[in-house]
Amino acid sequence: KPPQLPPARLPLAFEAWETALDEATAADLQLGDRSGITQAQIDASETWRERLSVLETTPLERSETDLRRAHLVLAWIMHFYIHSLPPDVPIVVPAPVTIPHFKICAQLQLPPVLTYSDTVLYNWRLKTPSRRVTPALDNLVSNTLFTGTNDEQEFYLTSARMELRGVEALDLMRSTMDEAFVGDDIAMRRITGYLERLAVVIDDLKTLLAGVRDGCDPSAFYNDIRPWFRGEDSDPAKRRWVFEGLDEEDYPTELSGPSAGQSSLIHALDVFLGVHEFSHAPGLTGSSKSTAFLERMQSYMPRHHRNFLTHLSVNPRPLRGIVESDEKLLAAYNLAIQALKRLRDYHITIVTSYIIQPARRKEKETQQQPALKGTGGTDLAKFLKAVRDRTAAAVIE
Ligand code: HEM
Ligand code: ALA
Repeated sequence: KPPQLPPARLPLAFEAWETALDEATAADLQLGDRSGITQAQIDASETWRERLSVLETTPLERSETDLRRAHLVLAWIMHFYIHSLPPDVPIVVPAPVTIPHFKICAQLQLPPVLTYSDTVLYNWRLKTPSRRVTPALDNLVSNTLFTGTNDEQEFYLTSARMELRGVEALDLMRSTMDEAFVGDDIAMRRITGYLERLAVVIDDLKTLLAGVRDGCDPSAFYNDIRPWFRGEDSDPAKRRWVFEGLDEEDYPTELSGPSAGQSSLIHALDVFLGVHEFSHAPGLTGSSKSTAFLERMQSYMPRHHRNFLTHLSVNPRPLRGIVESDEKLLAAYNLAIQALKRLRDYHITIVTSYIIQPARRKEKETQQQPALKGTGGTDLAKFLKAVRDRTAAAVIE
C-alpha cells in the first residue's frame, strides 16, 4: 500500500513555527550562497529567540500526524539554530523551541533531535500529484532542505526510494511468517519462493543506493550538507547542548544526528533473517558495540516501527530454525543473506566516496585531522565492517 502523504503544514495556531522554518530555509537561498552558514541564517535564528513565544502543545495531541509534523518542524528549527552558531559560541536552544519540543517528544517517545523520519520518512511530497509514487519512484520531492540543493534532496530521496521499494520486502516477510505457521511441505516451497524474491528486492535496494551517485555530489555532501546533521556527539568543538527552560535532570540522553541506521526496513531484514543473532559471535571486531548502536537507533524510530521490530523478534517460528529442513529452502535463505551482504559491501564503498575520501582531502587542505565519525556518532569504518561481517556470518554452510 502506498504510504499516506505526510502533512505539509501544522494547524494555523502553530503558524509561527512554520514561518520560522520558512525563514530559515529562505535565509540560505536569499544570499545565493549555498555553502556553509550565512549571516542571514544567524540573524534569522536570533530573531526566533526574540519573536517566538512558548506555544501550548495540547491541540496537537489529538493527531498523530500533527505531532510528527511538529517534531519535524521543531527539530529542523533546532538544527538550523545550533549549526548557524559560530563554533566558539555555546549552544543554548531557546525556550520557545525547547519547551514544546520536549512535550511533543514525550508524546511520541522520541529524542528532541533531527531523525531519519524528519529528513526522509515524513519529508516528501509528490512531484506530480496526479501520478502514483510506485513503481517508478521518480515522482518525489523533499519538503525541507538545509542547503536548498538538489544534492541534499537526492540524498534524502535515495533513502525514500529504498523505503518504498522495501514495502515488498515487508510483504514477503509477513507472507513467510504466515506460511511458517502452517509449516507443511507446500508452505516450505512457498517460503523458498519468497526468499528468492527477497534476494531480488535486496539487490534492487542496492541499485537504488547506487543511484545516490547520480544526484548527490560527494564533496557537496561532505562539506555543505552533512555538517547540518551533527548531533551533540559529533560536534568537533564538543559543546554540550543546553536546553533553555529545562531542568538538568530532564535532559535527554539521546542526541545523535540522523542516520539511515534508523531505518526500520534494514533492522527488520536483520531480525527476520536472524542476522541480529550473530551480534555476539566471536571474532567480529567491535561487534558488541555495533549492536549497541543499532539498538540505540531504535529509540529514534517512530514507536510503531519499534513495536513492529519487537513483534518480528518474538516470532514463534524464527526463519533460521526452519531453513535447514530443505536444501532448496536453505539455498534461498543463503541467497537473501548474500544479497544483504552485497548491499552492505556497496554501502561501505559509498561511505568511502562520501565521507572517507572527502575527509582525507580536507585533511590535506587544512592540515587538520577531521574526526571520522558517522552522524550517528559511530567509528564508521570499523562499525560498518563489523555489521557487514556479522551479515556474512549468517550464511549457513
Ligand atoms: C549507517 C553513511 C546512505 C543505510 C551509516 C553510517 C554511516 C553512513 C557513516 C554509520 C552510522 C552513523 O554513525 O551514522 C552513509 C552515506 C550515505 C548513506 C555517506 C550516502 C551518501 C544510506 C542509505 C541507506 C543507508 C540510502 C538506506 C536506507 C544505512 C544503515 C546503516 C547505516 C542501515 C546502519 C548500519 C547497517 O545496518 O549496516 N551510513 N549512508 N545508508 N546506513 Fe548509511
Ligand atoms: N550517517 C550518515 C553520515 O554519517 C548520514 O554521514
